[in-house]
This record gives sequence, structure tokens and C-alpha cells, in this order.
Amino acid sequence: MANKINSKYPSLEDLRNKAQRRIPKFAFEYLDGGCNEDVNIIRNTSEIRDVKLEPRYLRNKGISSTKTKVLGMEFDAPFGIAPVGLQGLMWPNSPEILAKAAYQHNIPFILSTVTTMNIERASELTNGNAWFQLYNPAEDAIRNDIIDRAAAAQCPVLVLLCDVPTFGYRPRDIRNGLALPPKMSIANILQILGKPTWALNTLKHGQPTFETLKPYTPEGLNLKQLGQFMDKTFSGRLNEERIKPIRDRWKGKLVLKGVASTQDTEDAIRLGFDGIIVSNHGGRQLDAAESTINSLTEITPKYGDKIEVMMDSGLRSGPDIARAMASGAKFTFMGRSFLYGCGALGNQGGDHTITMLKTQFKQVMDQLCCERVEDLPKHLITN
Ligand SMILES: Cc1cc2nc3c(=O)[nH]c(=O)nc-3n(C[C@H](O)[C@H](O)[C@H](O)COP(=O)(O)O)c2cc1C
Repeated sequence: MANKINSKYPSLEDLRNKAQRRIPKFAFEYLDGGCNEDVNIIRNTSEIRDVKLEPRYLRNKGISSTKTKVLGMEFDAPFGIAPVGLQGLMWPNSPEILAKAAYQHNIPFILSTVTTMNIERASELTNGNAWFQLYNPAEDAIRNDIIDRAAAAQCPVLVLLCDVPTFGYRPRDIRNGLALPPKMSIANILQILGKPTWALNTLKHGQPTFETLKPYTPEGLNLKQLGQFMDKTFSGRLNEERIKPIRDRWKGKLVLKGVASTQDTEDAIRLGFDGIIVSNHGGRQLDAAESTINSLTEITPKYGDKIEVMMDSGLRSGPDIARAMASGAKFTFMGRSFLYGCGALGNQGGDHTITMLKTQFKQVMDQLCCERVEDLPKHLITN
């Protein structure tokens, strides 16, 4: 684990640019894009930048710590790795790379139901510290089996996703005929041939598949079939009746991810969730949605003391993490950023991206003369 960042890639934009050169276009566009016209993704990344922070130079005790408590656990920094599906398609072995790096840096790694590593392996790599994100299965038996596997793997937190009641409308993926395994159209073959490191690594690590779902899924689905399979088997359409059995069965911490309204926050509290992640899926589902920073500032004043409010979508830097924490988030997550890191730097991508974000975040803390992460709201400029 390096403590220094690779000086060629000091910003996320550097990592993104390099990743774009190394990942085939169909996979990079799946990672990078939003939905429809990309309005929501632009809103997320731009509106957080309006948040301003005020330093207190004459109260400087010369110490600051990035340690952060959430859900009764302490982490070395206030950010973690959000669940991302199909990670191995974007960079071979990336879920393993990221799970290991998160564990070494003592930050949370959330495994997606639909990624290319299974619950058991995530747990092994993180010594039982991986969180698991659940797409709600329509069938009770599958739901119960997945929950029991997460419990057996000692996942401390189950993250129930609520913001995919339907598949997002993503024009790039439709044009690219995105599928797992990648559809061998002439265009996709040419894209793969143009990215030899990706191609060699994919050969080495084998074809990515939905590892956690293997016991329940037919193989080789294209985008259309995947949509149908997700609709049929993993109904994201949630309500009280569907949530209650999950809360009853799962004895650990339960978090609702994808919350974007005060009403859903109220329901989450009533239904016994321990935390929520204010998120709009990185702008991939509803192009007309509010930015997450604005949703957060609606929710935290009313409910911040009743439930642990975390946030993702649109964060790209240490200053962004500080902006979110100052605005009332108890913790933050990022999705694309870590995959850009893997795309750019392969096995070093997780370590580098975490180190870079932590270095940037610590600089903000020191610059503000803020000793503790929980004091960041005192530095928020509210006018
Ligand atoms: C390629 C991609 C796949 C994703 N897959 C999942 C998923 O399987 N489950 C989930 O809960 N969220 C998923 N998300 C959403 C992320 O967990 C997270 O909310 C989002 O990436 C945060 O926005 P950011 O990328 O701007 O940091 C995905 C996001 C991306 C970019």
C-alpha cells in the first residue's frame, strides 16, 4: 500500500482520461455515461461545486484527523466505494483490486448484487468487512438465500437499493448493444483490438459473469434479456410489504440506497433502516432528478438526527467530499471514480485513487484548520 500518489495522475480527470484510452469504448461508455441527455449527471457534478467552505486560520491547533464514524464503525476517511455492477467488464479483476485496497485503507467497499465477484470472495478479501448491496429479488426464496449468504459471509451492512424500479434509458448502451459477455459486433471487436492491455487482462481473468447470481441466473444475456431478467427476477419496485421481510431477516445494519426525498426518508425511519444513502445512482436513472447535494440539504436538517444520512453521486475530489460532509452527510461514497482508477492503473488503481482522494481531503481539513471531520459543518458558508 503506497502512501504517495502517482505524480502522473494527481486528479480524477487524469485517471478518467487515461482509463478512456485503455478501456474499449462500449465498456467505458457504460461506466461514464448518465441517462437520456446526461442532465442529471451534469447537475450532480456542477451543483456540489457551489458549496463553499470558510477557513478559521486563527484557531489552528495544527492537528486534523480524517477518521470518521458511521453506523457504529470507524473508518480512516469519510468515503467508501459504492456498489457498481459489471465491474470486471470495465477493468478485469477490478472488484478484487478495489475490495483489497478498501480493506487495506480501512474504508468500506460495497459489493453490488450484479457485479463480477461473489459475496463470499468479497468477504474473504476484506476479512468480513465488505458491505453488500441487494437488488430486491422478486422471489422470496432467492431473496432469503442471498440475505443468508451475506450474513454467513459476515457482511456488517446490507444496502437495499431503491432507485431502480425500472432499467435506466441509456442511449450509449443501446447503441453499443451492451451485453455480458460483450456482443461481438464488428464495432466492439475493433474496440477490443484497440485496447490490448484490457484484452490481455480479460483473457487472463476469464469472461466476467454475475458471480453472486450464478446459482440463479441463465448465462450469456444480452442487454434486452438482461433487462427482462432484472425485471422478472430482481424487482426493484419496493414497498412496505417487500421491505418488512428483509428487515426481519437481516440482523445487521440495514441501509436504504437511492433516497432522494424527505418522504422516502420518513418511510425509511419508520421501517427500521439504520441509514440511508442519498443518491440518484450517479445520474443514471432519472434525468429530471434533483442533484444529490440539493436532496441532501433538504433531508438532513429534518432527519439528520433520526437516521444516519450518507450520500453519493457527483463527488469527484477531496474538496467534494468535504463539501458533502459540511452539508450534513455522515459519510460519502463514489462509484465511477474508483473504476477510472482501475482503468488507468490496473492493480494499483484502487490504492492510488484512495490515496489521492484522502490526500486531497486531508489538505482541505488542514487548510480549513478543521480538526475533526464532524466539525466540517461549522465551516459551511450558508448565505
Ligand atoms: C457503471 C455503474 C454501475 C452501477 N451499478 C450499480 C449497482 O449495481 N448497484 C447499485 O446500488 N448502484 C450502482 N451504481 C450506482 C453507484 O453505486 C453510485 O450510486 C454512483 O456511481 C455514484 O455516482 P458517481 O459515479 O458520480 O460517484 C452504478 C454506477 C455506475 C457508474
